[in-house]
Amino acid sequence: MAEEEKNSEDVSRRQFFMKLGLGSLSIAAAGTAAFAYQYLEPNVLYEPSPIVNEGKPYQYPLHSVTLDVNNGIYIIHSQEGYFSLSAVCTHLGCLTAWKPELGIIACPCHGSKFFAFEQSTHKPGDKIEGPAPRPLPWKRIWLNDDGDLLVDRSTDVPPLAQDSFVRV
Ligand code: FES
Repeated sequence: MAEEEKNSEDVSRRQFFMKLGLGSLSIAAAGTAAFAYQYLEPNVLYEPSPIVNEGKPYQYPLHSVTLDVNNGIYIIHSQEGYFSLSAVCTHLGCLTAWKPELGIIACPCHGSKFFAFEQSTHKPGDKIEGPAPRPLPWKRIWLNDDGDLLVDRSTDVPPLAQDSFVRV
């Protein structure tokens, strides 16, 4: 009788350890599968397109400076045509603002100021004062087939160059 009890105790102990072993193996296999999936999955970072549609030119009156807050650019309509400046300060990257009362672009962070329009020898984007090390860069702008202004935020163009303006 005692022998029988000992045998059944051995069997249940063996079953317990078998189940424990299988459970451990399953957890290890699941971890390996998850790691392999992460390793094999393409490591792609999906960023928004640098090209943005800024709508119809007639939305921008002559001598206007319009800030697109979401895309960090200005659309400026000058006598020469439409052009686009980066609105991101070249000092530490704060978003600048158009100050119509002063007729300049100003950075709220450390006081850099920039020209929005051409003035004597100064080009739009040139620094007036402040710690910014470089002018605000000009961005590529063109018209698409629907007559909308498109701006490529990733492409700088030379200030005042023929192709740096849209003329309609
Ligand atoms: S970030 Fe514009 S002046 Fe410092």
